[in-house]
Amino acid sequence: MQHKYTRALTLTIIITAGMVLPGLLRGESPNLTASQPGGIKNMSISKTFFGKTPEGETANLYTLTNPTGMTIKITNYGGIVTSIIVPGKNGERVDVALGFDSLELYLKGHPYFGALIGRYGNRIADARFTLNGKTYTLAANNGKNHLHGGIKGFDKVIWKAGEFKNKNEVGIKLAYTSKDAEEGYPGTLSCLVTYSLTDSNELKIHYEASTDKPTPINLTHHSYFNLKGEGQGNVLDHILYIHAGKYTPVDEGLIPTGELKPVKNTPMDFTHPETIGKRMGTVPGGYDHNYVLDDWDKTLKKAATVFEPATGIEMIVLTTEPGLQFYSGNFLDGTLKGKNGKAYDKHGGFCLETQHFPDSPNKKNFPTAILKPGETYTHTTIYRFSTRN
Ligand code: GLA
Repeated sequence: MQHKYTRALTLTIIITAGMVLPGLLRGESPNLTASQPGGIKNMSISKTFFGKTPEGETANLYTLTNPTGMTIKITNYGGIVTSIIVPGKNGERVDVALGFDSLELYLKGHPYFGALIGRYGNRIADARFTLNGKTYTLAANNGKNHLHGGIKGFDKVIWKAGEFKNKNEVGIKLAYTSKDAEEGYPGTLSCLVTYSLTDSNELKIHYEASTDKPTPINLTHHSYFNLKGEGQGNVLDHILYIHAGKYTPVDEGLIPTGELKPVKNTPMDFTHPETIGKRMGTVPGGYDHNYVLDDWDKTLKKAATVFEPATGIEMIVLTTEPGLQFYSGNFLDGTLKGKNGKAYDKHGGFCLETQHFPDSPNKKNFPTAILKPGETYTHTTIYRFSTRN
């Protein structure tokens, strides 16, 4: 059942996105509301000025609301989701996403809060890879390695934005063309990312891209979640379940060794619901690992479930991708202060980044992350929220 639904869903999104991409890339900002069936009650989208980049470009903030109590805020600067407000079990409104209130704070630097990551999410060893006999050198921005697209990744650029609304969802389409050689990558890469809020309390992200030269691509989303509410302590008591019997062990630079290792009898095992904190002390540095999702076949499947008992909020992650980076906010240290002025302490949020495996361009045994001319990269991920006791 799930597969039928998701195939139809993916097809609808791809068709819609395909119609919009050429216009957005030409610089148009279509308001798709007009072309959609009218009379859509209670789904709304509004746009406000968020600030200017040092280059003088305008960033806007889009507020998406649905009739079932969820509100999401997204800026076209870095495709950053700044806020995800969901209803808790007692009707309270909980902002479950770490972030800031102003563009200035994002511009000052932050560890990818809520950001859209590209061209390549996570690390590429020694900031280089060889493709068709040619070695490409990328920006080294994480020691000697390349992380999350480089010095000015997709999380730091202004995306062209267009709004849309239909019967069951409201959202924005973001377009960005990455130039040949940007951050060292080959080929001109045209990307279209659709963020939407559905009437069943889902944040849905659909990514699409094409290139004129073979290039690695691994787009992802980097929200830090705290289901108690951002700034409300750490996430060690959240209960996590990951649909993965294997993970990719890493070296001290967080580069995968290439092995796909069973999680059984290790602290990496979340195939049975377990609190994030229970075995944290036995994982050097904390969780920052890629899980090999079970039964990957490019269709939308459940990847993980997280539950927080106090608010009763449960988040289910569904994806078409083969991997899931579980990062337990190990590098947060209380210096950054978020939306309510409270410090984001160590483990104050967790990330579940749907992705191709880190360092795939240098690992022959990992699923390929190379996009070729004539092909279309697609990736759909859904973060679905509900409550239970
Ligand atoms: C990813 C990485 C982490 C860290 C964070 C941002 O999740 O895997 O190692 O770099 O991004 O701080």
